[in-house]
Amino acid sequence: MQLVSDELINRLRTINQFSADQIGQNRLVYSPTWVKGQQQLIKWGLHAGMPVTVDAYGTVYLDVIGSQSPNGIIATGSHMDTVVHGGQYDGLYGVLGGFQAISNLVTALGQPKKTLWLVSFSEEEGSRFPATFTGSKHYARVADIHNIRDHHGISFDDAREKAVSRLQLPGVKTGLPKLPDSFTELHIEQGPRLINQHLQIGLVTSIVGQRRFTVTINGVANHAGTTPMADRHDALLIATSLINRLAIIARTISRQLTFTVGELHVWPNTANVIPGKVTFSVDTRHVKKSVLDQFETTLRAEAQKVAVPPVQVTIDRWVNDQPTLLDADLLAQNQRLAKTLGFTTATFASGAGHDSEIMSRVTPTTMIFVPSIKGISHAPEEKTAPADLHTGVALLQESLKSQAY
Ligand code: GLV
Ligand code: MN
Ligand code: MN
Repeated sequence: MQLVSDELINRLRTINQFSADQIGQNRLVYSPTWVKGQQQLIKWGLHAGMPVTVDAYGTVYLDVIGSQSPNGIIATGSHMDTVVHGGQYDGLYGVLGGFQAISNLVTALGQPKKTLWLVSFSEEEGSRFPATFTGSKHYARVADIHNIRDHHGISFDDAREKAVSRLQLPGVKTGLPKLPDSFTELHIEQGPRLINQHLQIGLVTSIVGQRRFTVTINGVANHAGTTPMADRHDALLIATSLINRLAIIARTISRQLTFTVGELHVWPNTANVIPGKVTFSVDTRHVKKSVLDQFETTLRAEAQKVAVPPVQVTIDRWVNDQPTLLDADLLAQNQRLAKTLGFTTATFASGAGHDSEIMSRVTPTTMIFVPSIKGISHAPEEKTAPADLHTGVALLQESLKSQAY
C-alpha cells in the first residue's frame, strides 16, 4: 500500500499559501482565508467523488459510503482555524492527513464496509470569538453559541452566516450529519516530548481541562505629570502586580498548572495619561478539575484584594472545558498497530485543547500525535518533518482500515 505521498505536502502548501502575505497562518474562523481553506477542501472532496456536507457552523464533512454497513461511521479529522500568527500544521494536518489516509485506503482497497468520514471542524482555537470548540460542540450537540462578538464588534452569527453561505458550492449538501461510531484525530504534538525522546508517535490518554477568563481593572485615568504618585489608581500597575502574583501562586498550587496572560489591552494607551482601564486574559490548564477550582478561587480572592475603591475589578470566565479521558481501547489498538508498523511510541496527556475532548463525550475517541520540531506551536515557526507527517498518516490509515474494512 502506498504510504508516502507528496499529495499531503502539496495540499498543506496550497491551503497555507492563502495566508502567504501575512505573518504565519491567520485562518481565524469565518475570515476570508478560513473560507478559502474550507472551499478548497470541498473542491478536493467533490473532485474525489466524495459526497460533501456543510453544517450551519461551517464544519465540512466528506464521506466514503460503506458497502455493507453504511450507517456504521468511522470518522477522522481536526479543525481548519488557526490562532493569530499561527503555524502550518495545528489542525490542518489532521484534516489533510485524514483526507490522505482515506484516499490511500480507497485507492488501495476500494470501497470500505463501513462509511469513512473526514471532518474539518470550523473552529477549535477560541482565537477570534470568546468561545472554544464551537464547531465540534455544535456537531456533538453539546452547545450552540450565540450573542458573542469579536474584538471589532462583529457578531458570531453574522460572521458565521456570511462565511457559511460561501461554502454552499454546487453539489454541496447542507445539514447536521449523525454522530460517528468512533473518532480519531491526527495532530502535531505541539510540545517537546516526542522530539526530545526521538519517538515517532504519541498516543493520547487524556486532555487537560482549561479555563479562560477576561479580567478588567478599572482605575482612574489622569495626567501623567501632575498627579502625585501617592494619589494614583493606575490600572496597568495594578494589573501587572496582580499578574506577577498569580504566576507565583500558580507555581505553588501545582508545577503542572499552566498560567498564561496572552492578551492585554490598556486604555487610553498613550504615553502621558495614567492608564484608566486594563483588560487581560488568563488561560490556565491542568489534568485535575480540583486544581483548576483551587486556582480559580485564588484568582478571584487576589482580584478582590486589589479592588479597593475607586478601583473596580471584574472577572469574566468564558471557557470552562473539563479534563477528559480518551478511549483506552482505541489507544491500545493504535499501540498494537504502531508496533506492527515498527513505529516507536509514547503515551501521555495533551496540554493543548482539542476537538477530541468534545467528541469523546459522544463517541469513543482517540488521538495520534507526531513530533513538533523544537516543541514549537501556535507560532509561525511550528514545524514537523515530512517523514513524521507521513508516519502519522500511515498509523491513522491502518487504524481506519482495521475499523472500516
Ligand atoms: C488550542 O490549540 C489550545 O490548546 O489553546
Ligand atoms: Mn489544534
Ligand atoms: Mn491550537
